[in-house]
Amino acid sequence: MSAMPQVVVLTPDWHDAVVSVEQAGQSHPWSEGQLAEALMADDHEVVGMLSLGDDAESLAGFAVLARLPFEAELQAITVAASARRQGVARALLERLIATASHWRSERLLLEVRESNAPALALYRGLGFVEEGRRRGYYPALAVSAPREDALLMALAL
Ligand SMILES: CC(C)(COP(=O)(O)OP(=O)(O)OC[C@H]1O[C@@H](n2cnc3c(N)ncnc32)[C@H](O)[C@@H]1OP(=O)(O)O)[C@@H](O)C(=O)NCCC(=O)NCCS
Repeated sequence: MSAMPQVVVLTPDWHDAVVSVEQAGQSHPWSEGQLAEALMADDHEVVGMLSLGDDAESLAGFAVLARLPFEAELQAITVAASARRQGVARALLERLIATASHWRSERLLLEVRESNAPALALYRGLGFVEEGRRRGYYPALAVSAPREDALLMALAL
């Protein structure tokens, strides 16, 4: 039997689990070093959704928030393929929205690949609106494909 999953702030002890989720779940994953830095930085918060089993905790997904002078930025969010469409990303983001509000950030910003329909639906559902576009920002997903635009989205807090 397993207990209710919960969102927690992740410490550097979670580094290897975060790397595993990121490498399995992202087409262009963050490096191990980037993830280690985010887990240690005072001006970042990394949250994770834990599934608590009888013997061990496993990481279903994580998200990285950075504190900027007036705003906060969602820098990464990845959910393990086996845990998708169960509300994990929404719960992680709701937690980070609360953190950014606590920081008194004016807005929560993010960038998303234009073709990433699941992520766009997630962000729009939470009230993020498109504010701009960076042309050719993302590397192509296939060798013969073109680079892709990033949509810049924001949520007023
Ligand atoms: C995008 C991602 C984080 C969503 O995680 P998730 O835990 O499956 O999302 P949730 O279950 O919390 O979904 C919340 C809402 O987002 C939308 N959504 C999520 N996945 C979707 C999909 N595959 N198709 C359409 N809408 C989707 C829905 O509106 C959903 O609400 P609903 O289930 O009530 O309809 C996940 O697919 C992922 O890790 N993708 C790879 C990494 C990535 O692209 N990260 C974003 C980078 S900007």
